[in-house]
Amino acid sequence: MKIITTKNYEELSKKAANIIAAQILIKPECVLGLATGSSPIGTYDRLIKYYEDGDLDFSTISSVNLDEYRGLGPDDDQSYNYFMNEHLFSKVNINKERTFLPNGLEKDADKACNDYNNTIEHIGGIDLQLLGLGHNGHIGFNEPDESFPISVHCVDLTPSTIEANTRFFENEDMVPKQAYTMGIGNILNAKKILVVVSGKDKAEILNTVINGPVTPLVPASILQLHKDVTFVIDEDAASKLEK
Ligand code: GLP
Repeated sequence: MKIITTKNYEELSKKAANIIAAQILIKPECVLGLATGSSPIGTYDRLIKYYEDGDLDFSTISSVNLDEYRGLGPDDDQSYNYFMNEHLFSKVNINKERTFLPNGLEKDADKACNDYNNTIEHIGGIDLQLLGLGHNGHIGFNEPDESFPISVHCVDLTPSTIEANTRFFENEDMVPKQAYTMGIGNILNAKKILVVVSGKDKAEILNTVINGPVTPLVPASILQLHKDVTFVIDEDAASKLEK
Protein backbone atom coordinates (compact mmCIF):
# COMPACT_ATOMS: atom_id res chain seq x y z
CA MET A 1 0.00 0.00 0.00
CA LYS A 2 1.30 3.41 -0.96
CA ILE A 3 0.31 6.56 0.93
CA ILE A 4 0.86 9.99 -0.63
CA THR A 5 0.23 12.83 1.82
CA THR A 6 -0.42 16.25 0.33
CA LYS A 7 -0.67 19.74 1.85
CA ASN A 8 -4.33 20.27 1.09
CA TYR A 9 -7.33 19.26 -1.00
CA GLU A 10 -6.06 21.06 -4.09
CA GLU A 11 -2.74 19.21 -4.03
CA LEU A 12 -4.54 15.95 -3.37
CA SER A 13 -6.79 16.53 -6.37
CA LYS A 14 -3.81 17.31 -8.59
CA LYS A 15 -1.94 14.14 -7.52
CA ALA A 16 -4.99 11.93 -7.97
CA ALA A 17 -5.77 13.43 -11.39
CA ASN A 18 -2.16 12.86 -12.45
CA ILE A 19 -2.41 9.19 -11.55
CA ILE A 20 -5.63 8.84 -13.57
CA ALA A 21 -4.15 10.83 -16.47
CA ALA A 22 -1.10 8.54 -16.46
CA GLN A 23 -3.40 5.52 -16.65
CA ILE A 24 -5.22 6.99 -19.66
CA LEU A 25 -1.96 7.91 -21.39
CA ILE A 26 -0.45 4.47 -20.84
CA LYS A 27 -3.60 2.62 -21.92
CA PRO A 28 -5.94 4.86 -23.93
CA GLU A 29 -8.62 2.14 -24.11
CA CYS A 30 -8.59 1.56 -20.34
CA VAL A 31 -11.58 1.02 -18.08
CA LEU A 32 -11.84 3.49 -15.22
CA GLY A 33 -13.90 2.69 -12.15
CA LEU A 34 -15.33 6.02 -11.01
CA ALA A 35 -16.74 7.32 -7.74
CA THR A 36 -19.08 10.04 -6.54
CA GLY A 37 -19.17 12.06 -3.31
CA SER A 38 -17.42 15.34 -2.62
CA SER A 39 -13.90 13.88 -2.37
CA PRO A 40 -13.29 13.22 -6.12
CA ILE A 41 -14.80 16.51 -7.38
CA GLY A 42 -11.42 18.32 -7.36
CA THR A 43 -9.85 15.36 -9.16
CA TYR A 44 -12.50 15.55 -11.88
CA ASP A 45 -12.03 19.33 -12.16
CA ARG A 46 -8.33 18.81 -12.76
CA LEU A 47 -8.96 16.09 -15.36
CA ILE A 48 -11.35 18.45 -17.16
CA LYS A 49 -8.59 21.07 -17.22
CA TYR A 50 -6.13 18.59 -18.76
CA TYR A 51 -8.74 17.83 -21.43
CA GLU A 52 -9.41 21.52 -22.10
CA ASP A 53 -5.68 22.17 -22.40
CA GLY A 54 -5.47 19.43 -25.02
CA ASP A 55 -3.34 17.18 -22.81
CA LEU A 56 -5.80 14.35 -22.22
CA ASP A 57 -8.12 12.43 -24.52
CA PHE A 58 -11.06 10.51 -23.04
CA SER A 59 -12.49 9.34 -26.36
CA THR A 60 -11.29 5.73 -26.13
CA ILE A 61 -11.82 5.00 -22.43
CA SER A 62 -14.77 3.29 -20.78
CA SER A 63 -16.04 3.83 -17.27
CA VAL A 64 -18.05 1.96 -14.68
CA ASN A 65 -19.29 3.71 -11.57
CA LEU A 66 -19.38 2.20 -8.13
CA ASP A 67 -22.98 2.75 -7.22
CA GLU A 68 -26.36 4.38 -7.72
CA TYR A 69 -29.32 5.14 -5.47
CA ARG A 70 -32.19 2.72 -5.97
CA GLY A 71 -35.15 4.63 -7.36
CA LEU A 72 -33.28 7.58 -8.88
CA GLY A 73 -32.86 8.01 -12.64
CA PRO A 74 -30.36 10.06 -14.67
CA ASP A 75 -32.69 13.08 -14.77
CA ASP A 76 -32.86 13.29 -11.00
CA ASP A 77 -30.30 15.85 -9.87
CA GLN A 78 -29.47 13.73 -6.81
CA SER A 79 -28.69 10.61 -8.79
CA TYR A 80 -25.09 9.57 -9.26
CA ASN A 81 -25.75 9.37 -12.98
CA TYR A 82 -26.58 13.09 -12.94
CA PHE A 83 -23.55 13.79 -10.74
CA MET A 84 -21.18 12.12 -13.21
CA ASN A 85 -22.62 14.07 -16.15
CA GLU A 86 -22.39 17.28 -14.20
CA HIS A 87 -18.87 16.80 -12.83
CA LEU A 88 -17.13 14.96 -15.66
CA PHE A 89 -18.88 13.32 -18.59
CA SER A 90 -20.47 16.43 -20.13
CA LYS A 91 -17.19 18.34 -19.83
CA VAL A 92 -14.81 15.94 -21.61
CA ASN A 93 -14.86 13.96 -24.86
CA ILE A 94 -15.79 10.65 -23.25
CA ASN A 95 -18.10 8.44 -25.32
CA LYS A 96 -21.32 8.46 -23.24
CA GLU A 97 -22.20 5.03 -24.68
CA ARG A 98 -19.13 3.69 -22.89
CA THR A 99 -20.05 5.05 -19.43
CA PHE A 100 -21.94 2.74 -17.11
CA LEU A 101 -23.71 2.98 -13.76
CA PRO A 102 -26.17 0.62 -12.08
CA ASN A 103 -29.72 1.28 -13.30
CA GLY A 104 -31.35 3.02 -10.32
CA LEU A 105 -34.74 2.88 -12.04
CA GLU A 106 -34.73 -0.92 -12.33
CA LYS A 107 -37.24 -2.00 -9.67
CA ASP A 108 -36.23 -5.65 -9.79
CA ALA A 109 -33.15 -5.58 -7.56
CA ASP A 110 -31.87 -8.99 -8.70
CA LYS A 111 -32.07 -7.92 -12.32
CA ALA A 112 -30.37 -4.57 -11.64
CA CYS A 113 -27.50 -6.32 -9.85
CA ASN A 114 -27.10 -9.15 -12.39
CA ASP A 115 -27.16 -6.71 -15.28
CA TYR A 116 -24.46 -4.56 -13.69
CA ASN A 117 -22.25 -7.54 -12.81
CA ASN A 118 -22.51 -8.57 -16.47
CA THR A 119 -21.64 -5.06 -17.60
CA ILE A 120 -18.46 -5.05 -15.50
CA GLU A 121 -17.54 -8.51 -16.77
CA HIS A 122 -18.21 -7.73 -20.44
CA ILE A 123 -16.22 -4.55 -20.30
CA GLY A 124 -13.20 -6.67 -19.41
CA GLY A 125 -12.51 -5.65 -15.83
CA ILE A 126 -11.37 -2.40 -14.28
CA ASP A 127 -7.87 -1.03 -14.83
CA LEU A 128 -8.02 1.72 -12.21
CA GLN A 129 -10.71 2.10 -9.56
CA LEU A 130 -11.12 5.49 -7.87
CA LEU A 131 -12.62 5.41 -4.37
CA GLY A 132 -13.72 7.85 -1.69
CA LEU A 133 -14.12 6.77 1.92
CA GLY A 134 -17.33 6.94 3.94
CA HIS A 135 -17.21 8.08 7.57
CA ASN A 136 -17.98 4.55 8.73
CA GLY A 137 -15.33 3.02 6.46
CA HIS A 138 -17.66 2.23 3.58
CA ILE A 139 -16.44 2.08 -0.02
CA GLY A 140 -18.99 2.44 -2.79
CA PHE A 141 -22.03 1.69 -0.65
CA ASN A 142 -20.54 -1.38 1.01
CA GLU A 143 -21.65 -0.64 4.54
CA PRO A 144 -20.19 -2.26 7.70
CA ASP A 145 -21.50 -5.81 7.82
CA GLU A 146 -20.74 -9.30 9.08
CA SER A 147 -19.17 -10.36 5.79
CA PHE A 148 -17.72 -8.79 2.66
CA PRO A 149 -20.27 -8.76 -0.19
CA ILE A 150 -18.60 -10.14 -3.32
CA SER A 151 -20.61 -8.80 -6.24
CA VAL A 152 -23.09 -6.07 -7.14
CA HIS A 153 -25.90 -6.01 -4.59
CA CYS A 154 -28.74 -3.93 -3.25
CA VAL A 155 -27.91 -2.42 0.10
CA ASP A 156 -29.89 -0.79 2.91
CA LEU A 157 -28.02 2.39 3.76
CA THR A 158 -27.09 2.82 7.41
CA PRO A 159 -28.54 5.72 9.42
CA SER A 160 -25.08 7.36 9.55
CA THR A 161 -24.72 7.23 5.74
CA ILE A 162 -28.23 8.59 5.27
CA GLU A 163 -27.40 11.38 7.69
CA ALA A 164 -24.07 12.13 5.96
CA ASN A 165 -25.77 12.29 2.56
CA THR A 166 -28.65 14.47 3.77
CA ARG A 167 -26.52 17.55 3.00
CA PHE A 168 -27.16 16.90 -0.72
CA PHE A 169 -30.96 16.67 -0.30
CA GLU A 170 -33.67 19.04 0.95
CA ASN A 171 -34.20 16.90 4.03
CA GLU A 172 -33.42 13.45 5.41
CA ASP A 173 -36.75 11.99 4.28
CA MET A 174 -35.75 12.60 0.67
CA VAL A 175 -32.52 10.58 0.90
CA PRO A 176 -33.03 7.19 -0.75
CA LYS A 177 -32.75 4.36 1.77
CA GLN A 178 -31.28 1.82 -0.63
CA ALA A 179 -28.63 1.70 -3.31
CA TYR A 180 -27.16 -0.66 -5.88
CA THR A 181 -23.42 -0.96 -5.38
CA MET A 182 -20.44 -2.90 -6.66
CA GLY A 183 -19.40 -5.48 -4.10
CA ILE A 184 -16.03 -5.71 -2.42
CA GLY A 185 -15.09 -8.49 -4.86
CA ASN A 186 -15.77 -6.23 -7.87
CA ILE A 187 -13.59 -3.53 -6.30
CA LEU A 188 -10.73 -5.87 -5.39
CA ASN A 189 -10.70 -7.22 -8.95
CA ALA A 190 -9.54 -3.82 -10.20
CA LYS A 191 -5.89 -3.91 -11.25
CA LYS A 192 -5.12 -0.66 -9.44
CA ILE A 193 -7.02 1.18 -6.72
CA LEU A 194 -6.75 4.90 -5.95
CA VAL A 195 -8.37 6.22 -2.77
CA VAL A 196 -8.81 9.95 -2.14
CA VAL A 197 -9.41 11.02 1.46
CA SER A 198 -9.60 14.60 2.69
CA GLY A 199 -10.41 16.40 5.93
CA LYS A 200 -10.10 16.04 9.70
CA ASP A 201 -13.48 14.32 9.89
CA LYS A 202 -11.97 11.35 8.02
CA ALA A 203 -8.72 11.16 10.07
CA GLU A 204 -9.90 8.62 12.62
CA ILE A 205 -11.57 6.23 10.19
CA LEU A 206 -8.60 6.50 7.81
CA ASN A 207 -6.26 5.36 10.58
CA THR A 208 -8.57 2.43 11.35
CA VAL A 209 -8.73 1.50 7.65
CA ILE A 210 -4.95 1.56 7.22
CA ASN A 211 -3.69 0.34 10.60
CA GLY A 212 -6.60 -1.59 12.07
CA PRO A 213 -7.58 -5.23 11.54
CA VAL A 214 -9.08 -6.33 8.24
CA THR A 215 -12.76 -6.69 9.06
CA PRO A 216 -16.09 -6.32 7.23
CA LEU A 217 -17.08 -3.99 10.07
CA VAL A 218 -14.66 -1.53 8.41
CA PRO A 219 -15.20 -2.41 4.73
CA ALA A 220 -12.26 -0.36 3.38
CA SER A 221 -9.84 -2.28 5.63
CA ILE A 222 -9.91 -5.05 2.99
CA LEU A 223 -7.84 -2.73 0.78
CA GLN A 224 -4.83 -3.70 2.92
CA LEU A 225 -4.89 -7.00 1.02
CA HIS A 226 -4.88 -5.54 -2.49
CA LYS A 227 -1.51 -5.52 -4.21
CA ASP A 228 -1.72 -2.10 -5.89
CA VAL A 229 -3.48 0.49 -3.73
CA THR A 230 -2.51 4.14 -3.51
CA PHE A 231 -4.05 6.44 -0.91
CA VAL A 232 -3.81 10.12 -1.78
CA ILE A 233 -4.71 12.05 1.36
CA ASP A 234 -4.32 15.54 2.71
CA GLU A 235 -2.58 16.54 5.96
CA ASP A 236 -5.90 16.84 7.80
CA ALA A 237 -6.91 13.29 6.90
CA ALA A 238 -3.40 12.10 7.81
CA SER A 239 -3.46 13.76 11.23
CA LYS A 240 -4.38 10.60 13.16
CA LEU A 241 -2.28 8.06 11.26
CA GLU A 242 -0.34 5.96 13.77
CA LYS A 243 2.28 4.82 11.29
C1 GLP B 1 -21.12 8.11 -0.65
C2 GLP B 1 -20.62 7.30 -1.85
C3 GLP B 1 -19.19 6.84 -1.64
C4 GLP B 1 -18.34 7.98 -1.16
C5 GLP B 1 -18.85 8.45 0.17
C6 GLP B 1 -18.00 9.54 0.80
O1 GLP B 1 -21.67 7.31 0.32
N1 GLP B 1 -21.44 6.18 -2.15
O2 GLP B 1 -18.71 6.30 -2.86
O3 GLP B 1 -16.99 7.59 -1.07
O4 GLP B 1 -20.15 8.95 -0.03
O5 GLP B 1 -18.38 10.78 0.30
P1 GLP B 1 -17.59 12.11 0.50
O6 GLP B 1 -16.43 12.04 -0.43
O7 GLP B 1 -18.56 13.18 0.10
O8 GLP B 1 -17.19 12.19 1.93
